[in-house]
Amino acid sequence: MKHIAVIGAGTMGNGISHVFAQTGYSVNLIDISQNALDKGISTISKNLDRMIAKEKIDETVKSATLGKIATYTLLAEGIADTDLVIEAASENLEVKLKIFGELDGLCAKNTILATNTSSISITKIAAATQRPDKVIGMHFMNPVPIMQLVEIIRGYRTSDKTTQTIMKVSQKLGKTPTEVNDYPGFVANRILMPMINEAIETLYHGVAGVSEIDTIMKLGMAHPMGPLQLADYIGLDVCLSILNVMYDGLKNPKYAPCPLLVNMVNAGKLGVKSGEGFYDYSESKKAEKVSGRHL
Ligand SMILES: NC(=O)c1ccc[n+]([C@@H]2O[C@H](COP(=O)([O-])OP(=O)(O)OC[C@H]3O[C@@H](n4cnc5c(N)ncnc54)[C@H](O)[C@@H]3O)[C@@H](O)[C@H]2O)c1
Repeated sequence: MKHIAVIGAGTMGNGISHVFAQTGYSVNLIDISQNALDKGISTISKNLDRMIAKEKIDETVKSATLGKIATYTLLAEGIADTDLVIEAASENLEVKLKIFGELDGLCAKNTILATNTSSISITKIAAATQRPDKVIGMHFMNPVPIMQLVEIIRGYRTSDKTTQTIMKVSQKLGKTPTEVNDYPGFVANRILMPMINEAIETLYHGVAGVSEIDTIMKLGMAHPMGPLQLADYIGLDVCLSILNVMYDGLKNPKYAPCPLLVNMVNAGKLGVKSGEGFYDYSESKKAEKVSGRHL
């Protein structure tokens, strides 16, 4: 396996492209938006500069990595001759079903189709294809170049061969792949999202403020980042959508999203990407607490 395609050049797609290209794979990065592709390449370039500044790599690695990535706006052109396609487009079931239906018709028979979905059923996505044995979840963590884990999710019909191939590819990237089965939220988000939701409930009920909740979890539980700030980084819309998938899929009220989270998303406060969530990320107030405004 030498040639791969990544669909979606956003937060995750550019990180996934970065690690594959730095490992020596040729990467076709595909997005419907040219602007997203340009931004994606610029982010990879900046992240490589940061690694140079920390003396982890040199200029030759940077130019070799960027030289391995080609960009496309047309799916049919971007997936040509690839052995593995990793879909990292928006977290939307209809979008993913459409992409996988098209990929199945366009890709060679043996191409493995992976998805980086945070919560959508791999089995459901695989059912949009005629090759459910070759469809698998490859759930990278954000930021991809730094985080060690890849949660490998086997759909109901994913084959042993596909799973073993993807485990090996992930190891080649220097990651630690960990195999799980396909149930709502998989493992990472099934455990993480109720914690984030509970932190939001704690704020909603006025038990403590934003910085107090985050400080308690950082200093008391040795978490590198508090749950509210982590939610801002993940994206509050993403957190809400994952909680809804678990709530619907597991039929258990304990996964019901906190009304405060719903309100913030409806108000367009999505965290870092919108400039404000539990903290203010505007240039003037970098990561300051937004005091009590959501209560
Ligand atoms: N953000 C995270 O922390 C995180 C972590 C793990 C997994 N994920 C998952 O990774 C996936 C991508 O998330 P993200 O945060 O990078 O999203 P994002 O919004 O940053 O980027 C999504 C990109 O997909 C593109 N896109 C949408 N429809 C497309 C299509 N039909 N064809 C090609 N490109 C298309 C958009 O233009 C956009 O550039 C989602 O499934 C998400 O659940 C996200």
